[in-house]
Amino acid sequence: MRTVRTVADLRAALAGAPRPVALVPTMGALHEGHLSLLRRARTDCATVVMSLFVNPTQFVAGEDLASYPRDEDRDAALAAGEGADVIFAPPEAEVFPPGFATVVEVSGITDVLEGDPASRGPGHFRGVATVVTKLLGMVGPDVAYLGQKDAQQALVIRRVVRDLDLPVHVEVLPTVREADGLAMSSRNAYLGAQDRERATALARALRAAELEVADGERDAGALLAAARAELDRAQIVPEYLELRHADDLSPAEGLDRPILLAVAAQIGPARLIDNVVLEAREPAASELLVTSTQGGRSGTPDEGSWNR
Ligand code: PAJ
Repeated sequence: MRTVRTVADLRAALAGAPRPVALVPTMGALHEGHLSLLRRARTDCATVVMSLFVNPTQFVAGEDLASYPRDEDRDAALAAGEGADVIFAPPEAEVFPPGFATVVEVSGITDVLEGDPASRGPGHFRGVATVVTKLLGMVGPDVAYLGQKDAQQALVIRRVVRDLDLPVHVEVLPTVREADGLAMSSRNAYLGAQDRERATALARALRAAELEVADGERDAGALLAAARAELDRAQIVPEYLELRHADDLSPAEGLDRPILLAVAAQIGPARLIDNVVLEAREPAASELLVTSTQGGRSGTPDEGSWNR
């Protein structure tokens, strides 16, 4: 595995590299969520590139840019362990040199949830869309791997790729969770023991809504109430807890098509987000036995055993 820091060295490293080429964009502080993306990239592709860049333009004022966990040696060892071929870890000036003047802005789906001015605001996704477009241009991958943990981000990047006709396939992989359901996140490291325990309520809230769907509930208000009850129990006041259509983030009243239940909350020092996709679907005949022995479930399952 090689670590390169300039676009010139990256292109030299990739000249003649066997295709397909995978890109796994990250900001480091790797955990099992990132590793699941690398693993899948390794299985699918002949060459695996991981980018490691804490992108300052996606942090909004007051966020944790300065304190974001950085440990390149640890990340490089973990990426090597998953068989990555190249780490692209550029300094800031390589990505945003003086005079840099272009932004990529996706309208509509960036105004809500994380993009709501009451949350991170639209500047966050402008930063994400711009840097990911640049990384795609720098690496030129055939496939880019993203996590469903950041569902809105994945949707934004899919839209950029479609709207700008970028020649890359975007794969979005399931959220990886701790044994107690907490979605893995680099920001979980900020949690003390008590907040770490409280944070499990986020996944329980999403799970409560999933169980309601499995029981036949289709009303958005009732699903939100089930989720909110779990947050209340842990005395968590969410920044948002919303049901939106999973394909365009328009508000959802029921389960007419797959819907995203998304939550954000400040838990002590950490701002955490999580989501599930809820889907009202009749189980296929081949699933009936499994479904009945498991008490029934619906939605798009995450990986891991906590919600099985
Ligand atoms: P980062 O937070 O480092 O995440 C890198 C990738 O890992 C993203 O696609 C994210 O969705 C995925 N990921 C994070 N937690 C996960 C989990 N628990 N399970 C599965 N996948 C998970 O997201 C970013 O960096 C940045 O915004 C980036 C895309 C690199 C642009 O700067």
